[in-house]
Amino acid sequence: MIAQKAGGDSQKRTISSGNAELDSRLGGGIPAGSLVLIEGSSGAGKSVLSQQILKGSLAGGNSATLFTTENTVKSLVSQMASIDLDIFDFLLLGKLRAYPIELSHLGDGATTTLLQAMKHEHTRGRDLLIVDSLTPAIAHTNNMLPVLSFFESSKRLCATGMTIIITIHANAVEGEFINPLRSICDAHLALHTEHDGQRLVKTLEVAKIRGAASVTGAIVGFDVEPGWGMRVIPISKARG
Ligand SMILES: Nc1ncnc2c1ncn2[C@@H]1O[C@H](COP(=O)(O)OP(=O)(O)OP(=O)(O)O)[C@@H](O)[C@H]1O
Ligand SMILES: [Mg+2]
Repeated sequence: MIAQKAGGDSQKRTISSGNAELDSRLGGGIPAGSLVLIEGSSGAGKSVLSQQILKGSLAGGNSATLFTTENTVKSLVSQMASIDLDIFDFLLLGKLRAYPIELSHLGDGATTTLLQAMKHEHTRGRDLLIVDSLTPAIAHTNNMLPVLSFFESSKRLCATGMTIIITIHANAVEGEFINPLRSICDAHLALHTEHDGQRLVKTLEVAKIRGAASVTGAIVGFDVEPGWGMRVIPISKARG
């Protein structure tokens, strides 16, 4: 959902996850026009979190395009329905376009091809673009320059108010090469699976949200439940 915040000239649009508790942990939602990086290992919740934001944004009357390397349109619809995120009507109405893409075989040219497709969606006036995930385009590459350039170009696309969410596997980029990518992004959400006492829990660390300094560093525990989706749960190390 993209909502207007009260406040005269300083009015700010935000992207809502459609989950009130999650939004409050994100400082009221992600500011529209942000380049957002969602990072985490396999099963940490990158797809579910981006799907939650996708549905929230569509429900708020906005248009969105999803580039997915993980699903067909059919499997996406049923995966999202399984966590109570129904998108079928939005697809029929054209408010959502979902493009299954294969990036791994394009080598170093993958990010260029993807960027062209994103620019095309930008010219069509989309409010939200999601790439889930960029991992196949950047894993195993030794050449980080095209990746850096992809992030810089994505950031320029956000200047008109379009929000872009990019998910990547935590180990997709080796060592310190991830740092410049994190710096370019306006928001950085890091997902982990970790021990909380005896139990294993999923956590969302709000590593950065530009314009919402008060929530930076917040750690939120969450669960993914069939028929329900993301549910914020109390954890002992929670902050924010
Ligand atoms: N319908 C569902 N019912 C229960 N759990 C689900 C459902 N859909 C997803 N999950 C769980 O949510 C968690 C997050 O899954 P998700 O696909 O978002 O991970 P991911 O970070 O995208 O992983 P990957 O890197 O493999 O793509 C997983 O533990 C998964 O089993
Ligand atoms: Mg995924």
